[in-house]
Amino acid sequence: MKKITSGLTALIMIGASASSTLSAAEGVQIDHLGVNNTLVRVTGEGKYLILPVQESNDDARINVLVDGNIAETIYVKLARSKTDYTVPFDLSRYKGKDVILDVVTPQGRSTVREAKEDCCWKGISLSDTFDVSDRESKFRPAYHHTPLYGWMNDPNGMFFKDGEWHLYYQYNPYGSKWQNMTWGHSKSSDLIHWEHMPIAIRPNGLGAVFSGSCAIDRNNTSGFGKDAVIAMYTSAGTSQMQSFASSDDNGTTFNIYPGNPVITLESEARDPNMFWNEKTGEWNLVLAHALDHEMLFFTSPDLINWTLQSSFGKGLGAQDGVWECPDLFELPVEGTKTKKWVLLCNLNPGGIFGGSATQYFIGDFDGKKFTADTDASGNVPTKWLDFGKDHYATVSWSDTPDNRRTVIGWMSNWQYAAEVPTLQYRSANTLPREIGLFRMKDGQVYASSKPSPELLALRGNKTVNESSKTLNSTPSLFNLPGICEIDLSFEAKKAKTVDITLSNKIGDKVIMTYDAAARTMSFNRNKSGIIDFSEDFPAVTVAPTFETNGKISLRLFIDRSSIELFGNDGRFVMTNLVFPNEPYSSLSVSADGGEAKLVSLNVYSINLE
Ligand code: FRU
Repeated sequence: MKKITSGLTALIMIGASASSTLSAAEGVQIDHLGVNNTLVRVTGEGKYLILPVQESNDDARINVLVDGNIAETIYVKLARSKTDYTVPFDLSRYKGKDVILDVVTPQGRSTVREAKEDCCWKGISLSDTFDVSDRESKFRPAYHHTPLYGWMNDPNGMFFKDGEWHLYYQYNPYGSKWQNMTWGHSKSSDLIHWEHMPIAIRPNGLGAVFSGSCAIDRNNTSGFGKDAVIAMYTSAGTSQMQSFASSDDNGTTFNIYPGNPVITLESEARDPNMFWNEKTGEWNLVLAHALDHEMLFFTSPDLINWTLQSSFGKGLGAQDGVWECPDLFELPVEGTKTKKWVLLCNLNPGGIFGGSATQYFIGDFDGKKFTADTDASGNVPTKWLDFGKDHYATVSWSDTPDNRRTVIGWMSNWQYAAEVPTLQYRSANTLPREIGLFRMKDGQVYASSKPSPELLALRGNKTVNESSKTLNSTPSLFNLPGICEIDLSFEAKKAKTVDITLSNKIGDKVIMTYDAAARTMSFNRNKSGIIDFSEDFPAVTVAPTFETNGKISLRLFIDRSSIELFGNDGRFVMTNLVFPNEPYSSLSVSADGGEAKLVSLNVYSINLE
């Protein structure tokens, strides 16, 4: 059994544990004060107060009183008629102090007697441990990053330092739906194995901790120490404002700047993304002016005093919903000496296949102003980084080695992220990817996303090794080892379409079709398994293949509930969730309208060591 044994060091104990769960009567005193108000007083010892949750309930508002003062406010769907799962409230932070939870439940009640019947009151208990053993092995990804429990959305604040890739994420530690935003934290030395760390930044009086970014202050411009890790994030209280925090222990804990907020505006703005600009010798920051559908550009000498320089985006690109989670970086265009700037602009809803998605602009940035490239007719084209439905809030690591531009995205969609068929945890991140730039014949520059080179270490045994096979309408069939990487290339030749189908014995299937005339690849998950939890889930997503010769190479990463398709060295990418009733066990490849050639096919099992 896996247990978190301390919220501050996040040690994980494997094996039986000496749990000291006390009954409510033994360490927790419950006083009902009215139909909607109950005091939960901690009278015993324990690292965690275990709270029972019922997913379908509304949130109870809980003011946590520590020695009589409100230390924090959390929102929990306390169980009323049944407990779906429990969540731990970490008491170790308040050791030696009096802790009372002042709970306001949402349900309209007529009598206190009725309110006392809620099953949460009997279930609240003290414990030194909290069980985080995986209870979702059917759909929890085997090799993608997920939180141990609770809700996760945007990856953010990522930086690389001293050989470690730090990943923060929007995290609710008190339930598997969005609420109580903190910065969860994981780190990795190989971008595959993730160590779960304690929560890095928790809400304070200014509000919840929304997305942001980190950078290393190499020249101590902020005065918080040479090489301090600086975080900029959105404090989301009554309004949204931007806050500063610094860390002198490589991002494990952060000191929140008492002078916050450091940027305020008169309308909704969030997700600050900052970086040191070598050319100008000052800090740049991009902020999403969410409802105005534009990005704002700031400069600063010290990460604290910021000056608004310009804005970009009004009327350009996809304009529905809100603009969120920007990123801005410069990259060389493949095979040339030219460098271009890439402005990532996540938006929700209004994505290419509905809901959330990542669009980007290519252009120039002089340290103050971003100017987008136009097409032959003088328009700024709309470009998408990924042509699946489950790829959002993509941003990059700062301070990476070898000038890499490594990104990761949230592998879900706001349309149904809270409804997907998992409960202990919700959402995974995509595999890490390397952004590059390539120019097409029409002069347009596009961004590619290649699987990060570290992912080659995932390759286990080669279970299929096939080459030079003619493809026709009789499907060529191969066994699949469940989770796997499929590496496949074909030449469409005379074929009008080439189908690649993953299926299992009970008929769940995913069909990927190359259309030679349209030069597109589609991904059909309409019969992929469990699809009925949201009417927005069934989908056929379509990607342009950015080629002119019918030669396609694909790397497909199949995990328990996701498929990532990287085409032609990352020139087109599709990330889609799937919830098969049992793992896909068969791969079929066929061609219609004429013969095609399977140039090579390799299937690798996944090495989970
Ligand atoms: C994007 C987003 C961000 C915000 C965060 C809140 O998914 O809406 O704009 O900072 O989620 O969790």
